[in-house]
Amino acid sequence: MVQRTSGVTAEELKDQLNIVDVISRVVPLKRAGSNYKGICPFHNEKTPSFIVSEQKQIFTCFGCGATGDVIEFTKRYYNLDFVEACEKLGRENGIEVEFRKGTENKKRDRLLSLNRTAARYFCKVFFEAKNPGYTYMRSRGMDDATLTKFGIGYADPEWDSLTNYMKSKGASDDELIELGLSSRSRDGRLFDKFRNRVMFPIINTSGQVIGFGGRKIDEKDEPKYLNSPENLVFRKKNNLYGLNTAKQEVGEGKPAVIVEGYMDVMGLYRYGLKNAVASLGTALTENQAKLIKRYTREVVLCYDADSAGINAALRGIDILSDQELKVRVFHVEDGKDPDEFVKMHGRDAFLELAKKAPPATQYKLENAARGLDVATEEGKLEYLRRAAGILKGLSPVERDIYVKSLADKLHVSERAINEEIEMNKAAASRNERPRARTEEEEEIKELTSSDAYLIKALITDPSLTEKLFTEPQVITSGLGKKIEENLFRTYGLKGTYEESDAYEGLDPEETRIASEAIDKVILNGKEEEVFNESLRRFKLRALRKKQSLIIDKIEIAENSEVDQDTTEDLTRELIEVEKKIKELEESKDGSN
Ligand code: CTP
Ligand code: MN
Repeated sequence: MVQRTSGVTAEELKDQLNIVDVISRVVPLKRAGSNYKGICPFHNEKTPSFIVSEQKQIFTCFGCGATGDVIEFTKRYYNLDFVEACEKLGRENGIEVEFRKGTENKKRDRLLSLNRTAARYFCKVFFEAKNPGYTYMRSRGMDDATLTKFGIGYADPEWDSLTNYMKSKGASDDELIELGLSSRSRDGRLFDKFRNRVMFPIINTSGQVIGFGGRKIDEKDEPKYLNSPENLVFRKKNNLYGLNTAKQEVGEGKPAVIVEGYMDVMGLYRYGLKNAVASLGTALTENQAKLIKRYTREVVLCYDADSAGINAALRGIDILSDQELKVRVFHVEDGKDPDEFVKMHGRDAFLELAKKAPPATQYKLENAARGLDVATEEGKLEYLRRAAGILKGLSPVERDIYVKSLADKLHVSERAINEEIEMNKAAASRNERPRARTEEEEEIKELTSSDAYLIKALITDPSLTEKLFTEPQVITSGLGKKIEENLFRTYGLKGTYEESDAYEGLDPEETRIASEAIDKVILNGKEEEVFNESLRRFKLRALRKKQSLIIDKIEIAENSEVDQDTTEDLTRELIEVEKKIKELEESKDGSN
């Protein structure tokens, strides 16, 4: 993005455009009440449910939920990012647009820099003088090079060492609390959260310290690991411990080895196995899988050999396979985790196991035999059933290979196995289709109570309709949507409606269900209050969803290292959303 010295901001650009003009150049619009209506360009529809509000300068589709301002429309319609969309709009309308960089990112930068300051402090304490942290890590076989590479530190047992240090460096109470480095005691003073712990800085692929894990040294302390809380800069589910060091080798053709713990990553590194990462104490997430995919298509899962580890591996396989990553799985046989194993048996033994690690399907098949005696007829049948479930999702070629080897192993014909798979498939789709259908039916035949409240409020006071125009999908049930459409249409034509308009085109059963639900609602003159509160809650829910979506995106963008601008746009968006959330939360007492 180019820094400009003159021109208008994106906000001012919006003020200079009329969304109706912009959209009507590509989507034919007809007047509908105080709004405009057309066929939604973002999904397939025959009857128009795409509304453009000239007054509010936004578009909204009641069919697919697409909504936003003129910039959002341009982004979506032409598949552009924020900046490109602004530039296009500016160009086509003879307006020069200026982008200011960075100001909104200040808070992030600030928190990240404080984390770095803390990490340096812990590290200095760890290496400078004799301390229990260093002694502990050495006793676990770590050498100085590895400890330095991972930036390991020590938080001393005092209650205020770090807090005082950070404050002397200008950190505010709020910042320290947000980062989870300090807590506030009952008498209002801050104290250190991490005490007498080995500190593992968690560093993203851009080299920023986003959080910490602190391991207890004293057996009686709890918890074993204390981790930074989720905050603006630390999102566990979007990061992997060790990826910052592993990314080089992983990017150069080695598979990513996924292990459970901090110590596993370091232990392997210590023995020259530098391509391990850990998923930060959570089950592997979709975003973590996407992150890995930036560097490699091949993953080896190496979780602890207990049942938790096996289950985590089974779940992990699906998450990773969904991202089209090639997955192999093994558990170390001797020693409870990779760290112990490599210490006992060395690097080559680990590599040997990794090399022999079976592909995910084979691992699943082996696992499916657990608890079954395939020597018995019953056990064999049950195993076949389970195996069919595993194989049914494979490509024909892959499937063929496994069917052959299964047939050999179980002494059954390939045909029998293939038939089992077909049956399994059919059963699955039988199970799916009826499920989908009943959902649909239920959706049509049901009016949720929040929908009933909203519709009752609308019928009681049709002037509330306009408020709903700009809030798509507040009404959630299928039946509710039909009624909403009826009301919108009638309102568009006549500027008002009656209860009977709501039921137009519904079958008798639907009419009965809806009118009963609506009759049950008693508003006692509070329709506006009820309506506003429903809207408020709905908006909050939608905003929170949006917030977590943006947060996910930020972490991914940030870890991609390439696109600083995207991160900034997203951060801007996030701050905007969080501002709105705050406003909404504060407007609880009817002021909204
Ligand atoms: N973990 C956590 N909080 C805990 C326990 C575990 O966040 N109270 C996470 C840590 O990321 C830890 C991982 O889960 O590294 C695996 O836990 P565990 O196997 O118990 O730890 P190890 O890394 O093996 O540590 P150690 O060898 O020191 O026991
Ligand atoms: Mn361990």
